[in-house]
Amino acid sequence: MYDFDIKTDRINERCRKWDKKIIKEHFEDVSDDFIPLWIADMDFKAPDNILNSFKRAIDIGVFGYTYVYDEFYDAVISWQKDMHGVDIYKDWITLSYGTVSTLHYIVQAFCNENDSILMNTPVYEPFNGAAIKQGVRCIYNKLNIINNRYYIDFEEIESQLREFKPKLYLLCSPHNPSGRIWSIDELRKIAMLCKQYKTILVVDEVHGEQIHFGRFYSILSLEEELTDNIILLSSPNKAFNLGGLKTSYSIIPNKNIRERFRERLSKNSITSPNVFGIIGIISAYNDCKDYLKEVTKYIYDNYIYAADFIDNKISKLSYMKMESSYLLWVNISKTGITSTEFTKFLSSEYGVLVEDGNNFVCDGEGWIRINLGTQRENIKKAMERIEKCVQNLDKIFS
Ligand SMILES: Cc1ncc(COP(=O)(O)O)c(C=O)c1O
Repeated sequence: MYDFDIKTDRINERCRKWDKKIIKEHFEDVSDDFIPLWIADMDFKAPDNILNSFKRAIDIGVFGYTYVYDEFYDAVISWQKDMHGVDIYKDWITLSYGTVSTLHYIVQAFCNENDSILMNTPVYEPFNGAAIKQGVRCIYNKLNIINNRYYIDFEEIESQLREFKPKLYLLCSPHNPSGRIWSIDELRKIAMLCKQYKTILVVDEVHGEQIHFGRFYSILSLEEELTDNIILLSSPNKAFNLGGLKTSYSIIPNKNIRERFRERLSKNSITSPNVFGIIGIISAYNDCKDYLKEVTKYIYDNYIYAADFIDNKISKLSYMKMESSYLLWVNISKTGITSTEFTKFLSSEYGVLVEDGNNFVCDGEGWIRINLGTQRENIKKAMERIEKCVQNLDKIFS
């Protein structure tokens, strides 16, 4: 049994989420008793089994170059089978240095300067960055909100695929910022369209391990003729809070796509992994399922707390059902001010740091994202401060 109420001292850890210097760059004035609910990492200690696997490496005490050994492939294969019911082969797996870096390599591998990339919006900002920084154009497909849930406009997608012939479609599954889980039918439709229009489907599944409502389907659950046009990106970085290890992997069933991608990795000299990164993945996947279950339940309870609080006490705010992960997408549009104004006022006057909806790719205005991956005490304090903030907005912004 893990006790996620125990506070961790992250102020001295030099993590971006809690570091005053970094916070100042993003939020200007913030009081000393700030509560950071912005960057997507969790404030919980890693599972004991991961810590012990690091300790074993530290006891040996030599951190020279390593290589991608079989235990890594075996761990990924078993994890994908046990958790997501998909059969994959060792050959399909390639280790790399974080999902965001991998998105950049993929764009480099498959796009030339005047090509384009399709994505649904709003979405995690680095999707855009990966394209723009390579001089590649983005085509945005706006998600529709129906009954307070995001839906994909497939007709629009098809016409964008037909008109722009994007080289890649980047899909965030589950979706960041909302936590929306795509159904198997939705995934199939996207994959079929991509195949029809010869657009490679790149699916980022890093939020696919903490599931609160419904069922998550890996894109590799689809039929073989569809998965041969797919690049799946994943890691235990979100579920087990290992982002700082900067290690992740891709799964690519199609040999030609895989070889082209690997050629690009080779051109960037992405070779031997970080010593701790590979150990972290193996340990998380082989030995830490109990932790994942418990941390998911703790986050779910945080969600229920925050959701009840908003329902009962902050009538001007509403939120999307958090189907997965630990990021709550909250609508502030009834307050009558912008997301940027709200975020600034909340941080400067109340010390609660959340993500401005405008930090995502398009269509985030009217929204903020609250990170619930922290001790419940922080969530309780933050919700009380958010309530006060909303009550006092009229005094400032009328
Ligand atoms: C959708 C998504 N992909 C990737 C990442 C980051 O992955 P990595 O740290 O492996 O680059 C995040 C982090 O918030 C994310 O939300």
